[in-house]
Amino acid sequence: IPISNYRNFSIVAHVDHGKSTLSDRLLELTGVIQPGDANKQVLDKLDVERERGITVKAQTCSMFYKDPETNEDYLLHLVDTPGHVDFRAEVSRSYASCGGALLIVDAAQGVQAQTVANFFLAYSMGLKLIPVINKIDLDSANIPKAIEQVETTFELPREECIPVSAKTGLGVDKIIPTVIRDIPPPTGDPLKPLKLLLVDSWHDPYVGVVMLVHVVDGTVKKGMKLLSAHSDRRYDVKEVGIMYPDKLPMKNIQAGQVAYIIPGMRNPKEAMIGDTFYQYGNHEGLEPLPGFEEPKPMVFVGAFPADGGEFNVMNDHLEYLVLNDRAVTLEKETSNALGLGWRLGFLGSLHASVFKERLEKEYGAKIILTAPTVPYKVIYKNGDEKLVTNPDEFPEDKQKVELLLEPYVEAIMTVPDEFIGTVMSLCENNRGIQKELEYLTTGQVLLKYEIPLAQLVEDFFGKLKGMTKGYASLDYEDAGYRKSDIVKMELCVNTVPQDALTQILHRSQIMARGKENVTKFKEFLRHQLFEVAIQAKVNNKVIARETIKAKRKDVTQKLHAADISRRKKLLERQKEGKKQMKSTGRVNINQEVYQAFLRR
Ligand code: GTP
Repeated sequence: IPISNYRNFSIVAHVDHGKSTLSDRLLELTGVIQPGDANKQVLDKLDVERERGITVKAQTCSMFYKDPETNEDYLLHLVDTPGHVDFRAEVSRSYASCGGALLIVDAAQGVQAQTVANFFLAYSMGLKLIPVINKIDLDSANIPKAIEQVETTFELPREECIPVSAKTGLGVDKIIPTVIRDIPPPTGDPLKPLKLLLVDSWHDPYVGVVMLVHVVDGTVKKGMKLLSAHSDRRYDVKEVGIMYPDKLPMKNIQAGQVAYIIPGMRNPKEAMIGDTFYQYGNHEGLEPLPGFEEPKPMVFVGAFPADGGEFNVMNDHLEYLVLNDRAVTLEKETSNALGLGWRLGFLGSLHASVFKERLEKEYGAKIILTAPTVPYKVIYKNGDEKLVTNPDEFPEDKQKVELLLEPYVEAIMTVPDEFIGTVMSLCENNRGIQKELEYLTTGQVLLKYEIPLAQLVEDFFGKLKGMTKGYASLDYEDAGYRKSDIVKMELCVNTVPQDALTQILHRSQIMARGKENVTKFKEFLRHQLFEVAIQAKVNNKVIARETIKAKRKDVTQKLHAADISRRKKLLERQKEGKKQMKSTGRVNINQEVYQAFLRR
């Protein structure tokens, strides 16, 4: 099949608008899978993805299609993309290997935040967009309204909209002929020196690292030597092929294709999304393709084995999990309160919550996860700059600090207009600054706010969903660092700071949060044999306090009422003992207390 008969495309959609269902239908139509196959939604591979209905890792699948009219053969590559903005670098790598995309709009729900955000990304990368109105079988479907939205929001001609039901298959047969007609074939030359873009990679237990690549120029065969433009490392090609839907080995893969390579790579971290590969020995004077970015973790969580957990076993397992998710970073850390553990870094709040959920499911009560934190920037008076990713490392000595900065995002939300007031106050309570407000044609409002990432991480999406009966949608992108009045708040028990519970907060939040923390901690700590003071401190000033009264063990119980002097003596001694305990101050805090407090 000549390159002029290749078509590379992806699907742009909001969560749940039917991307996976539509992909399945297309794969059935082209015979890659059989209707009624058990491996439905083959493109969503991870369990967590299936459960949460989100696509985290991009997958791709090739299809062969014979045009019934011209009898010409086509090779189509459906390049799947992660559905969430935390994975923007991966999304843009996938788009970079495509000539166009299907833009799915749910006929009942209309355009949502993610549709908008992904549309603009795809559009800015020059992709040809084909609007598909899905779920037309639903009673609540409003096809004319959805088409009108496509026209007003995306300025795409209404005549180009393809109404379908991915569920029943109605109308789906129109899609591939339109893809062939409207989406341009990839450009590239199989005879030129090799250039590949790494789109995705994963670890296969049988063959090791598998790389999904877009062959921009040249041809790849088994036995070739590859050279990474980024790391200068060399690899021997063990196997090449296309995804159909699993790996299907081929003699060679060539310019224009999105296909896989088994590079004999031991460490999956060496496969860096956006890296360019050349053929070793035939690479002089070649320039890398644009788009390489180091993954930049934006949300950090501490993880510690609880009493029943074994550090070494967990360490092996975490290292394995992290190998399979390039974007997670892992470092060991030690906490006074919780002992030896790890600090995990994630691309964003959703990425963190998916991973956290997976850990909690696998380890249950055996793992303690601390509150998520974002990276803060500290600029010192001597010009030094430091990124603080662990609240406990926030500088104590304010004398040397020139400036404190925190990361902001630009959040795009779509909400039904009846909820606009509540959503605006939610944003304002989270230190948001309004940037845009636009009424869409379907009774929806598009809102843009600049919000500190730290606020978004505190279950902002959960609250937004809760107050809009689940109708709001959210997407966001990085908006850089801003100067901010942030402080470190410690939680002390009998004056001993509990490092695992230290938080960095905006000054406006400390009173409320301090009070809440001491009250909650008291509740979980319950009775102790001596008096315990729980304090929230900012810059060594106590801003909130709770006291747990000593549980009075009645040492005089067994004595005769008359035995007064003995009674006095015993009570004296008890008081002494307590005083001593209080002054040494060391409270033995059961790990369950931390766990309960952090999970609340
Ligand atoms: P992500 O994987 O999170 O991106 O979601 P998705 O866009 O792939 O959505 P998915 O295909 O999983 O579909 C979401 C839900 O909508 C599922 O319950 C589907 O059965 C349903 N659905 C998809 N297409 C149609 C359709 O044409 N009609 C109806 N009635 N339901 C549909």
